[in-house]
Amino acid sequence: MSVDPLRWLDERAAERVRAGLRRELRARTWRGEAIDLASNDYLGLTRHPEVVDGAVEAVRRWGAGSTGSRLVTGTTTEHERLEAELAEFVGAEAGLVFASGYAANLGAVTALAGRGTLVVSDAGSHASLVDACRLSRARVEVAPHRDVDAIDQILFQRTEERALVLTDSVFSADGDLAPLTDLHRVARANGAVLIVDEAHGLGVRGDGGRGLVHEHGLAGEPDLVITATLSKAFAAQGGIVLASERVRAHLIDSARTFIFDTGLAPAAVGAARAALRVLRRDPDMAARVLARAADLARIAGVPEPDSAVVSVVLGEAQIAYDAAVACRERGLSVGCFRPPSVPEGTSRLRLTARANLTDAELDIIATVLGDVLAHARGQAAVPA
Ligand SMILES: Cc1ncc(COP(=O)(O)O)c(C=O)c1O
Repeated sequence: MSVDPLRWLDERAAERVRAGLRRELRARTWRGEAIDLASNDYLGLTRHPEVVDGAVEAVRRWGAGSTGSRLVTGTTTEHERLEAELAEFVGAEAGLVFASGYAANLGAVTALAGRGTLVVSDAGSHASLVDACRLSRARVEVAPHRDVDAIDQILFQRTEERALVLTDSVFSADGDLAPLTDLHRVARANGAVLIVDEAHGLGVRGDGGRGLVHEHGLAGEPDLVITATLSKAFAAQGGIVLASERVRAHLIDSARTFIFDTGLAPAAVGAARAALRVLRRDPDMAARVLARAADLARIAGVPEPDSAVVSVVLGEAQIAYDAAVACRERGLSVGCFRPPSVPEGTSRLRLTARANLTDAELDIIATVLGDVLAHARGQAAVPA
């Protein structure tokens, strides 16, 4: 008897269609694109001529690929310069570039945890931190969102000698901020290391976009480790860990996603360096992102956010999905977050602000969003 061992995939797919949870890939076109409120290109630098030139020059000099793991042939002087420049920018002693932000989180957490360690992670931590916990072989406790007292208690009651606390600085779904000063105080009082994912904080929060850790005056603290992606404000690709020289050396020796992964491609490194140069020259970009986020929030009728992320909760997955499709049909590209990315019943449009959103674009956004949200909220108000 021959049984199709993957028949369950069709059943799962049918369940997702019924629940409004099917996901689709849609290729972008490079011309005539919709107004972008969906990407993480917060500073609008992906197509900035200097950033594009940075990528092209790096490719001309170093080639298309990095040719090997960082420890073999995959490190160029371009990687080392980016590490030093970003470390200096955020006020850390040192930096270590990874192939992605995901890999940076997996590498940092697994190398600093291990058996005999307790890892306490905020319930809203990014999926890459969640996966890092799973791979860490440490005991993992998930603390309620932004609950410093709960974390304090968990740390205090532990039997393990070592402990890590994990949090995003700006949470990716809601755009809210972690209470970093209190978290660091509690981590230090309990002899734990605080790891902060600044994926959505760098380029947006802090003096000239130096991030939320810098804004809280915690840059350079020896028991604090920053992880970040180069794919959002820095308009490229890749990840970085920013910490002390001691931590950097330990990661080079033991972070598996550093050792067993091909080094970040030169184009991405060159682009990220150029984006940092542009941001340093025009530090007001960070404030402009927040101002544009406030504009979007006003248009959408939701509270002003503390980050570039404007979350418009609509409820059921299908309502959020239909609203996103309606936006797209009228030239607005918006994010749509549904379970499992967000809790059941809180499906939403996720709008992201860009420093270079124009007034003309905001006028169009106001018209389209006004119509689409009125319809979606009307539907949400009708009991199913
Ligand atoms: C908070 C957070 N951390 C890490 C990542 C992963 O970064 P990357 O896309 O560079 O792998 C993302 C999203 O991409 C993110 O939103």
